[in-house]
Amino acid sequence: MDLFSYREGLLHAEDVPVDALARDYGTPLYVYSKGTLDRHCEAFEAALSGIPHLICYAVKANGNLAVLNLMARHGCGFDVVSEGELRRVIAAGGDPSRVVFSGVGKRREELAFALRQGIRCLNAESLPELAAISEVAADLGVVAPVAIRVNPDVDARTHPSISTGLRSNKFGIPIEEALGAYREAARDPHLSVQGIDCHIGSQMVSGAPILEALDRLLILLDGMQRDGIGVGHLDLGGGLGVIYGDEEPPSPQDFYSGIIERLRGRGLSLYIEPGRAMVANAGILLTRVVFKKQNGERRFLVVDAGMNDLVRPALYNSWMDIITARKGTGEGETCDVVGPVCESDDFLGRDRRLDAGEGDLLAVRGAGAYGSSMSSNYNARPLACEVMVDGSRVHVVRARQEFADMWKGESLLPGQSDAR
Ligand code: LLP
Repeated sequence: MDLFSYREGLLHAEDVPVDALARDYGTPLYVYSKGTLDRHCEAFEAALSGIPHLICYAVKANGNLAVLNLMARHGCGFDVVSEGELRRVIAAGGDPSRVVFSGVGKRREELAFALRQGIRCLNAESLPELAAISEVAADLGVVAPVAIRVNPDVDARTHPSISTGLRSNKFGIPIEEALGAYREAARDPHLSVQGIDCHIGSQMVSGAPILEALDRLLILLDGMQRDGIGVGHLDLGGGLGVIYGDEEPPSPQDFYSGIIERLRGRGLSLYIEPGRAMVANAGILLTRVVFKKQNGERRFLVVDAGMNDLVRPALYNSWMDIITARKGTGEGETCDVVGPVCESDDFLGRDRRLDAGEGDLLAVRGAGAYGSSMSSNYNARPLACEVMVDGSRVHVVRARQEFADMWKGESLLPGQSDAR
């Protein structure tokens, strides 16, 4: 459920017509709905109300400070995968003691920064990482809170690029080796075992794979208990899918009820790391048609947002819904919606039936997750402006990047000014 809808034939973000947003802030423009974000936070909170829990919003999905600040106000913690993401959380007023740190390649400086900030838990993804955490903690004179990210070898049944819980993926420690790793961690005076962690994939439209993973983790947990290794939490990662087209993902309530049922009586807190489901449908990308053109058989709408602004279609061939800001009256024509970037794969959607021409505004839906957070300056295109709408109020939450900011920190070679 989102708060983007047509009123009198014109797409609105909450109470604001999107053509006014495009006029005032330019395009490409990310538009977020605060009301939708609020609803999503409340839905996750309600879904987990039957168990002690911590919702660690996955910053990678959308790390805009205003988004993070809103999540923190709702009482969320965070899942970060780099020092930069942890610094974003802190800059947004988030509390490091409610942050878990995932990722396969944390550098020692990043581990030290996280420990100094009082991180809630480091999710270790390998034995060498556990050793590094121990060394860094010893140097700092602290005991590091850790969980081991277990790779349960479960197929998340999602797009291969966003599937992470198979033995063949780089993530986590294989489940058969996890007990041995926990024994080592439990013996290490610089480590304090806090929990078990797992994340098997993203955009899951069924709860079955995560229940399968959970069953495997519970067998591991029983083994740990026999060895006297107790944990306080189980972190099941993120992964709940959203509707881009015809998917039918479960609600947070339905997704988590089976999990909570299986955990009853075990005295564990449930941590989750949702990203996409919290933000995807709370955002659209507004873009304007620059030209309409035809090459042979194919008709193109060339728009002013490209793969540097929204890379999901080009990178994963993801289908994202594209609609016209003004509800079309005609049948429309089948066309490819392509960006201005000099790459053949620079497209937002192929074979779309759209009643649009030069100067018209289009909106890509579901763009709140992995949209701006994956954007780049390719083709020296400034990062897009981002606004958050709250009822009839509009807040600029990221100003459009200035051209000169793109080459900030770059310099000419010495004597370059005389070079011919
Ligand atoms: N926790 C960990 C350790 C993760 O690796 C991820 C996502 C999440 C949580 C959040 O998962 P979510 O709830 O968003 O499914 N760029 C891709 C998605 C990559 C997901 C990577 N990991 C896309 O645009 O579809």
